[in-house]
This record gives sequence, structure tokens and C-alpha cells, in this order.
Amino acid sequence: MKRALAATIVAALMSAGAARSEDAPPQDVKIADMAVKASLTGTPGSPEEGAKTLANRSLGNCLACHAVQALSDEQFHGNVGPPLDGVADRWSVEQLRAIVVDSKQALNDESMMPGFYTLNVGKNVRKNLVGKTILTAQQVEDVVAYLATLKE
Ligand code: HEC
Repeated sequence: MKRALAATIVAALMSAGAARSEDAPPQDVKIADMAVKASLTGTPGSPEEGAKTLANRSLGNCLACHAVQALSDEQFHGNVGPPLDGVADRWSVEQLRAIVVDSKQALNDESMMPGFYTLNVGKNVRKNLVGKTILTAQQVEDVVAYLATLKE
């Protein structure tokens, strides 16, 4: 049941934005020790933009699976994944970046959370979306910058 929900959510998400030449291509982003050390863009993320991306149903759609108290104005918060409150106390920025890039590599290979900056998103990807990521590199940096503010 949860798995079917996750598949629907991923299918709804694939609306990739344009990559910029200075961004690290997804196939070059290496997760080591559960972390992605370097910024994907070299441009610091914006927590304000990150909060919007996180709540946007056609971008991060993170709230489909996670609750975030600070965003309680948003109507629906899922519980497929753990609440993200206090997540910056549990993980470093480098670890948060790895989780958003590809949680299957960063957390566990059965993770239902979509990889937001990886080309390994499964077999049933629509043709026009092959080779694209769910989020752009800068959107990942923005989301990570927002997550880094979630301390308890
Ligand atoms: C389809 C559901 C789903 C979506 C969508 C989703 N996640 Fe997750 N997420 C999970 C699950 C499930 C876990 C628990 C770890 C696992 O998968 O084993 C998790 C774990 C996490 C963790 C680690 C939390 C902790 O306390 O250890 C972070 C951080 C996170 N997600 C951030 C995000 C962000 C940011 C987005 C949107 C860009 C997002 N997630 C979208 C399901 C989801």
C-alpha cells in the first residue's frame, strides 16, 4: 500500500527543470560515508526557496511523506517518512545533501524516498524523462539549506 503510494508520488514528481552547465552532473555526484561533501552548484542554497520547493507538489512534494511543524499552514502532511523537525540535529549538511540526492544510497537501498538528484530512479520512467532528475542541483541546495534550519 505504502509502496504503491510512493510510486504514484514519484510519477507525479518527474517535472525536471533545466540544468546549468556549472552544476555537477548527477552521474558525477558521489556519496561516500553517507555524505555528499561538495555543494552541487557552488552557490549557497536559499532556505526560503527550499521551503517552497519542499512544499511544492510538483517539485519536492516532501510533505506527501513527511510532516514539518514549521510548514503547518500547508494542508496535507504524510507519515510515510519520519517528521523532519529536528532533522538538522540528527544529520550534518553533507549527510542531508546525500539523503536528498539519493536516499537509497545514503540511507538504505529499500528506501521509498525518491532520489531527487540521481538518474537511477527505477525502470518505469517515461521516455521524455529519462536522463533527467526530479530537482535541479540548485533546488537540492535550497532544500538542504532549509533542512539545515530544522533544529529542535
Ligand atoms: C515517497 C515518500 C517520500 C518522499 C516524497 C520524501 N521522503 Fe524523505 N524519507 C522517506 C522515508 C520512508 C524515510 C525514512 C528512511 C528510509 O527510507 O528508510 C525518509 C527519510 C528522510 C530523511 C531522514 C530523516 C531522519 O530523521 O532520519 C530526510 C532528511 C528526508 N527524508 C528528506 C526528504 C526531503 C527533503 C524530501 C523532498 C525533497 C523527501 N524526504 C521526500 C520518504 C519520503
